[in-house]
Amino acid sequence: MTPVIAATAAFIEEKFQAEGSGHDWPHIRRVWQVARALAAEQPGLDQEVTELAALLHDIADWKFHGGDYEAGPRAARAWLLSQQVLEATVGRVEQVIREVSFKGLGVETPVSSPEAAVVQDADRLDAIGAIGVARAFAYGGHKGRSLHEPATPPVSHADFEQYKQSTAPTLNHFYEKLLHLKDRLHTPAARRLAEERHRFMETFVAQFLREWDSADAASGVVPGPATL
Ligand code: ADP
Ligand code: NI
Repeated sequence: MTPVIAATAAFIEEKFQAEGSGHDWPHIRRVWQVARALAAEQPGLDQEVTELAALLHDIADWKFHGGDYEAGPRAARAWLLSQQVLEATVGRVEQVIREVSFKGLGVETPVSSPEAAVVQDADRLDAIGAIGVARAFAYGGHKGRSLHEPATPPVSHADFEQYKQSTAPTLNHFYEKLLHLKDRLHTPAARRLAEERHRFMETFVAQFLREWDSADAASGVVPGPATL
């Protein structure tokens, strides 16, 4: 690990302590580790740009900065320049960060480099599976969203502004983003890892809806005595 990667990891670990929306240090660390593993299958990719972008990808997420989509690249640039990183590397890291985020089901998020493909895949893998389910509800709780409202149907957001302004219940997020991620991955290694996580989410959503509906069906039934 180069000194600037070690310094960046320490800086981000410190900054993302006790973060309650699912964008915590363990998320960043997983994205970093998974990006490294995916990078190993992508010959020719710039390891330093990949690792720095993975570590810095949520440094100033638009979701927490009034929708300002340049806040992240700007904060990453300020940090990297403070570490004497060369301009060429800084510019490439900024561009990866710009390309990572999901912007709505109807919005394409193409990547312009193998480094961006790997970091976007690693971030998306962390949004699916059991951890993805936990993070979605942590984020929803953080934003005061309800778990589920059957009367509010999911929406395919056609532009980023519309997606940013959504205040829909968290279960809708599965239809509006999470269940589509496996088909939007770039690297074969990420697609392999996504399969089991995707199946788990489908099982989770089906079971959630069964329990939701069975509570309605069972209303009026007096529960039996509690047992240990
Ligand atoms: P992205 O940059 O693609 O938005 P992040 O790494 O910032 O990805 O993480 C987004 C996380 O926040 C995901 O786990 C996602 O499920 C959760 N999240 C984002 N928007 C919502 C939402 N509207 N409802 C529930 N969870 C959300
Ligand atoms: Ni992230």
